[in-house]
Amino acid sequence: MRYENIHNLQIPKIGFGTWTIGGRNHADPSWDEKSLLALHSALELGYTHFDTAENYAAGHSEELVGRAIREIGVPREKLFITSKVEPNHLEYEDVLRCCENSLRRLGMEYLDLYLIHWPSVGMKLAETFRALNQLVREGKVRCLGVSNFNLKLLKQAVALSETPLLTNQVPYSIPDRKYVKNGVLEYCQQNDILLTAYTPVKHRFTQGNQTLKAVAQARGVTTHQISLAWLTTQPRVITIPMSFNPQHQAENFAAADMELSDEDMTQLNGMFE
Ligand SMILES: NC(=O)c1ccc[n+]([C@@H]2O[C@H](COP(=O)([O-])OP(=O)(O)OC[C@H]3O[C@@H](n4cnc5c(N)ncnc54)[C@H](OP(=O)(O)O)[C@@H]3O)[C@@H](O)[C@H]2O)c1
Repeated sequence: MRYENIHNLQIPKIGFGTWTIGGRNHADPSWDEKSLLALHSALELGYTHFDTAENYAAGHSEELVGRAIREIGVPREKLFITSKVEPNHLEYEDVLRCCENSLRRLGMEYLDLYLIHWPSVGMKLAETFRALNQLVREGKVRCLGVSNFNLKLLKQAVALSETPLLTNQVPYSIPDRKYVKNGVLEYCQQNDILLTAYTPVKHRFTQGNQTLKAVAQARGVTTHQISLAWLTTQPRVITIPMSFNPQHQAENFAAADMELSDEDMTQLNGMFE
């Protein structure tokens, strides 16, 4: 596994997403068995960064992440756990309460990273950060970040955070360059902020694209792996693919060690410019 060394932390280039672990917008206990199997295999493969949120399966994703970690017995300090506060909980008291609830569901004393999941219309970002900064001072959260923030909002968040903002988590993949075009990636790279790429694997595109297939075949790997390696080859970019399938999880984990050549990058970059 390759890492991003940033703010005295080592963050794995590839972590594990948990959207649909335990259900979608509501908890679905009929998914528990397959969700726990997926988390167990991810932990056994050596994933250490788990990305969850209070609204994934209405909190049940956090419960299953915590349970799987206890069942496999990975020491807490070896892990990097991210959770997120949802956009309708951005008032001061709500942020404090929601963080406590996430910690309770995870069965943990602290979060490594706490993100504002989405900006909301009319939010008072200074109030939100007053609570977030307090959580860091109290030791309940180690690092702060945001998600789905455009450049203007990201700069405001940087100014309001008492500790260096660790990440902006945004959609980023070969066919989705919105956060390159709006200047966020460049700003992150110039200011020591990670860009965490979500939805890094776009299925229809990945499976059908001839350029991607040619690059993958030349290296004897899958098109999904090339899609992930395209992200992890970029400085200050990490990603968090999700998979229920242990084989896919292993392939994704291995993709973190693939560094694409300048020629491969130029070819893949050129596809959607
Ligand atoms: N901050 C936000 O607003 C936000 C929004 C969306 C997502 N996220 C986070 O980002 C994570 C990842 O995003 P995502 O779940 O939308 O998309 P994703 O990881 O790009 O795609 C997940 C899908 O890809 C398949 N897949 C994964 N690896 C594969 C492989 N090697 N070969 C073939 N198929 C593969 C999975 O199927 P199988 O299970 O069959 O492998 C699954 O259907 C989420 O889980 C969540 O933690 C954050």
